[in-house]
This record gives sequence, C-alpha cells and structure tokens, in this order.
Amino acid sequence: MLKCPMIERAKLSDQKEKKGFVIWLTGLSGSGKSTLADEVYDSISANGNRVEKLDGDVMRGVFPATGFTREERDAHIKRVGFVASLLEKHDVIVVASFISPYRKARRLVRDMCSNFIEVFVSVSLDECERRDVKGLYKRARAGEIKDFTGIDAPYEEPQNAEIVVDTESQELEESLAQVMEYIKQYM
Ligand code: ADX
Repeated sequence: MLKCPMIERAKLSDQKEKKGFVIWLTGLSGSGKSTLADEVYDSISANGNRVEKLDGDVMRGVFPATGFTREERDAHIKRVGFVASLLEKHDVIVVASFISPYRKARRLVRDMCSNFIEVFVSVSLDECERRDVKGLYKRARAGEIKDFTGIDAPYEEPQNAEIVVDTESQELEESLAQVMEYIKQYM
C-alpha cells in the first residue's frame, strides 16, 4: 500500500514531541504507592507510550545490601533517582514508587530530573498499620525490625508535591484519574 508522506511526517513529528518525565510516588509503607504505580503504568502503556516502572521492593531485590539507615536510604534514592533521570533523558516516562522519606533526597532527585512530578500518597500511619499488608508494622512495633518508617524512623511529608492523593478516603480509580489528569500536560 502507498504511504501518504504527510501522514508519515505527522507521525514522525508526534514521536519526536514525546518527552520523558518522572512520576515519583512517595508515602509510608502500605500507603498504596505500588498499587497506584501499577495502575498509572498500565494506563500510560496502554496508549503506546514508552514507560518504565521503578519500585522500592524490586530495586532492593536487585541491590539486596541496601539497608534502612538514613545514609543507606539516601544512597538508594540517589541511585534509583539517577536511573530515573537517565530513562527520562531518553524520553521514557518513569513511574517510580519509593517511600523516600527524606525531603533532601527527594529534592536531589527532583534536581537530577528535568520534569519531576511528586505524588504524595497520603495515608495516616494508623491506617497503614491497620492494613499491615506485609505484617511489617507488627514486627516493627515488636522491635524485630529497626529503622521502620513511621515507627522509629521519620517520614518527612512533602510540602509542595504536584499531586496529593488520599488513598484512605479515595477509591483507587479516583487517585488514578487525578494522576492521569495532571500528566496530560506532559503527554
Ligand atoms: S526507601 O525508604 O529507601 O525509599 P523503599 O521504598 O526502597 O524504601 O522500600 C520500602 C519497602 O521495604 C517497604 O515497603 C517494606 O516492604 C520494606 N521494608 C523493610 N524494612 C523496612 C524499614 N525498616 N522501613 C521501611 N520499609 C521497610
């Protein structure tokens, strides 16, 4: 079949305009970051976009020596933030989900990236403990796990996140719609 040069050119320019950006989900363990990240990832990739997912538990499985002291978390966030910035540079959309409890480390990643969208997955500690999907809060309360975020390690809430979703009062679909609406401007 003959190809229409106009259409081919339009397609090419569409592709060129697609820029990478980083959607960074931060929040307590059990806040629903990974669940929301999966939904955001699926919605973005369903439209044929180049998208990659970076998740705390998965990355920690790849670098198993990563611990949970402030220094270890800072190094971890710097490492994965750098990966996110490289992918973004190559026009990949990145969906990253990490507790990333320290403002300074999140700031560092923001500065490494060109388009950084911080999504604060906001849920009370009580609710996360009630959910306790992995049973880790119980173990942290029993003193079996040290430096647990929210128990004996801090979580510094974002003050200027681009998006705040409240998975305690919202349905998953609402949080997803909120993120998808915001990122329209980058797509
Ligand atoms: S971060 O603080 O360095 O950003 P990351 O998101 O990679 O954390 O990993 C968090 C996951 O590690 C949690 O969801 C939980 O499953 C597990 N985990 C194990 N120990 C801890 C701990 N001390 N504090 C927080 N999460 C922990």
